[in-house]
Amino acid sequence: MTQASNGPTLPPTEEELSRARLELVVEGPVARVTINCPERRNAMTGRTWTTLAHIGQTLPEDVRIVVISGKGDIFSAGIDLGMFSPEGVDGERSMVSGLADGTSTEAEVQDYIAGLQEGFLWLRRPDLVTIAAVRGHAVGAGFQLALSCDLRVLADDAQLCMKEPALGLVPDLTGTKPLVDIVGVHRAVEICLTARRVGAQEAQALGLAELVVASDELPGAVDDAVAALLATDREAATATKALLQQAAGNTLQQQAAAERGAQVGRLAALARGAAGR
Ligand code: ACO
Repeated sequence: MTQASNGPTLPPTEEELSRARLELVVEGPVARVTINCPERRNAMTGRTWTTLAHIGQTLPEDVRIVVISGKGDIFSAGIDLGMFSPEGVDGERSMVSGLADGTSTEAEVQDYIAGLQEGFLWLRRPDLVTIAAVRGHAVGAGFQLALSCDLRVLADDAQLCMKEPALGLVPDLTGTKPLVDIVGVHRAVEICLTARRVGAQEAQALGLAELVVASDELPGAVDDAVAALLATDREAATATKALLQQAAGNTLQQQAAAERGAQVGRLAALARGAAGR
């Protein structure tokens, strides 16, 4: 999967990014997305996530790596709590008023949430490797955003918290599956239903962080990871990520067949390359 066929073709403008509290810098094969609202602890709105989806739909074809981080000393305080006030936030609709006053049906709200989830789903694309660089708090939607990435590199002050149940909500931004995949259902229940903070060292022990480094070493550690990832063949990396993503849902025989099928494609590509030399 690369670009969506029926989505926007132009990337979000600087104004759209700013209204969505995002920064985007694309340099060759690396796109860096920064949540940029430090005065509200990088809290995010619905517009943040629809714009994230827009970024995913319009990334240049040669982008292989996406790094997501937060401006300043925090990853993200999750959803902007103003989204739950009747008036919403920054001119954006409230999450609750439509249901409260009967102007939105449940189906419409589900469609709205599906649109928000698009901002998280594309981060699993096999042709990309996505990295969350987490400093400080990653709360609620912030934790789910980090969970949507392939790799999590944490500063040693990072704290992950699935706050939603404490607020009367469920985590609905595609975070429950990766959480369970990584820590198992029992630990996931404990983490979510206590809404406690999981520190960086525990996160690493649980598999929620691939790497934990001192805070001032975070940018360098992410750059090292990016360089290592870029050193592999892109097509092989894409095929391998696709294989790994289906492994948990496959039987051994199904996975062996998938490996064969993918390898035939790789061997054919290598043969074409050899013939062209
Ligand atoms: N939405 C809107 N504003 C926020 C949010 C948020 N999620 N989080 C922080 N802010 C604002 C505060 O209101 C405060 O604004 P003010 O300066 O105008 O008073 C400012 O950011 C600083 O917040 P502090 O709480 O003082 O920052 P601190 O560094 O001490 O704490 C922390 C950071 C732990 C993240 C804390 O702000 C917090 O718990 N925020 C709420 C987290 C939350 O419940 N998120 C929703 C989870 S559910 C979901 O995401 C779906």
